Amino acid sequence: MKISGRTKVCALIGDPVEHSLSPIIQNAAFRSLDLDYVYVVFNVKSGDLREAVYGVKALGICGLNVTMPHKTAIIPYLDELDETARKTGSVNTVLNNNGRLIGYTTDGVGALNALKHAGVDPSGKRIVILGAGGASRSISFTLAEHASELVILNRTFSKAKALKDAIRKTLGERAKVRALPLSDENLSVELADADILINATSVGMKPNENETPVKQIYLRGDLVVFDLVYEPLETRLLREAKSIGAKVVDGLSMLVHQGAASFEIWTGVKAPVNVMMKAALEVIQRREGGV
Ligand SMILES: NC(=O)c1ccc[n+]([C@@H]2O[C@H](COP(=O)([O-])OP(=O)(O)OC[C@H]3O[C@@H](n4cnc5c(N)ncnc54)[C@H](OP(=O)(O)O)[C@@H]3O)[C@@H](O)[C@H]2O)c1
Repeated sequence: MKISGRTKVCALIGDPVEHSLSPIIQNAAFRSLDLDYVYVVFNVKSGDLREAVYGVKALGICGLNVTMPHKTAIIPYLDELDETARKTGSVNTVLNNNGRLIGYTTDGVGALNALKHAGVDPSGKRIVILGAGGASRSISFTLAEHASELVILNRTFSKAKALKDAIRKTLGERAKVRALPLSDENLSVELADADILINATSVGMKPNENETPVKQIYLRGDLVVFDLVYEPLETRLLREAKSIGAKVVDGLSMLVHQGAASFEIWTGVKAPVNVMMKAALEVIQRREGGV
């Protein structure tokens, strides 16, 4: 990678960010298309967010990815939001358009494209999503437009209900959305005739990889099981779903597809998804191998 006075800079801001795969994925994409861009990471504390965003303008940084805890907090400092970011109240990508900062969210489209990449079309499907945090919010808004019904189950019921109400308010009657507390009883009933199960909780994530949000008895071989957790790459949920013949989609695919959508916003060039996937997989496999 040759850095010159003309090299454009994209960056991730969040806290913590040290273990992010985004620099690996994005720099592999820039390199493979010979684009004069570089992607770096800044650990930005909540109290420094405003100054960091002003710095983006002052330094002419061309694009940002935004992660926890800034996805909502950054909104007042941006000049414009695209429609999806406005609807979901969440931003994970910023384009610096000649000094105007425009916020986008690519989590929803990343999840949608990860499903499509695996040959799964969510249109007209019954979808059960676990979790009502930031990731579930973006994905639920996107999938509610495609699904025949979306059921949101969350440990803290009030958050699931608030998300359901927000989706209904934005999308109106065409959104068939329900909210329930996350319990064995509700899982048993809701998964009996669901087409797609999505885990958007952090259950099963390292170092708690022995945990699963759904007991295996509630899974079925004709269910598609999509886990947003990508470390470990094969979560207990995915392993148990696969062992009974269910189709599985892992969180790395979503990570790469949401990164690909960010790449396209910054560069206007089609993202080399396969290159990005290969780069991410290499790092995850090295980490899982303990190297
Ligand atoms: N693959 C990707 O590209 C991608 C992108 C974004 C996020 N993710 C992953 O998605 C997961 C959620 O991220 P987020 O940003 O939405 O986090 P978040 O806003 O902190 O939300 C966490 C969610 O997990 C639930 N939860 C946590 N511990 C739980 C437990 N022990 N039992 C049941 N539910 C539990 C929370 O329920 P309460 O509301 O009850 O606390 C909440 O719904 C993380 O593992 C993250 O790494 C992946």
